[in-house]
Amino acid sequence: MNMDDVARRGLVLLGCGKMGSALLDGWLKGGLPPVSVWVVDPGPSDWLKTTGVHVNADLPDDPAVALVAVKPQMMGEALPAMQALGGGGTLFVSVAAGTPLARFESTFGAATPIVRTMPNTPAAIGRGISALIGNAAATDDHLALAEALMGAVGQTVRLADEGQMDAVTAVSGSGPAYVFHLIETLAAAGVAQGLDPDLAMALAKATVGGAGQLAEDSPEDPAQLRRNVTSPNGTTQAALEVLMDAQTGFPMLLARAVSAAADRSRELAHG
Ligand SMILES: NC(=O)c1ccc[n+]([C@@H]2O[C@H](COP(=O)([O-])OP(=O)(O)OC[C@H]3O[C@@H](n4cnc5c(N)ncnc54)[C@H](OP(=O)(O)O)[C@@H]3O)[C@@H](O)[C@H]2O)c1
Repeated sequence: MNMDDVARRGLVLLGCGKMGSALLDGWLKGGLPPVSVWVVDPGPSDWLKTTGVHVNADLPDDPAVALVAVKPQMMGEALPAMQALGGGGTLFVSVAAGTPLARFESTFGAATPIVRTMPNTPAAIGRGISALIGNAAATDDHLALAEALMGAVGQTVRLADEGQMDAVTAVSGSGPAYVFHLIETLAAAGVAQGLDPDLAMALAKATVGGAGQLAEDSPEDPAQLRRNVTSPNGTTQAALEVLMDAQTGFPMLLARAVSAAADRSRELAHG
């Protein structure tokens, strides 16, 4: 199965909020015909109505893909609408945080190919990263198709087992919030040093955005990029001595933050 099959047989999108809209926008820009898409959402947005996709219409009998993008707590209410698509012919893809493959298998049957993915918010600007894991019924072709679909909003990586999903959630899923907080606190620290808030915020945003881009584009790893801007006894070194402190700096803080997020992800999955 590939994107041509999706265009021919159709794609059902369950839930078209922030993540569903980002994905749909990416697919349409990538050339998927709007008539190949059926969206199920109780409150269709104004944007959705302009796209030309089918909205809350009768679903096709045998779509290539059903992509689930409702909030995890809405699953019980939302999934029955897709019941008829379970059993083998349709690939299910879920972007729901903390919702295990077993949850979908119990609704649609273990013979249903299901790929669970964890995207993140930069998907809204095509700069997300999604980790993917399939159930036993998902073939390499199914995973490749799920990658093509998630690739519309950024990069993709495959996981070796579903247990890694909690760590992924804690690193890249929740990670954008950590970076937003870094921006907030860097700007606030600039204000404490006498800068106007607007100026401090402009400096902090551009610094995090630019350094992030440089880290992604550069052939050098982030540790080397850090060394490149750290002259002995200079200003950067003075700051890094604080930030790299083993007891009170980033290493310990981020380890604790990521561990708390992973623990919470495991709790949500089990409960
Ligand atoms: N946003 C992210 O960055 C992100 C990252 C990783 C994973 N995810 C996952 O993506 C999923 C969606 O998140 P989101 O941020 O896009 O949430 P969202 O903006 O609230 O979107 C959910 C959409 O589903 C609709 N919906 C509610 N009940 C439904 C039903 N019974 N049938 C069909 N549609 C229904 C909602 O409509 P109403 O608004 O009318 O209720 C809304 O449009 C979640 O499972 C989340 O874990 C999101």
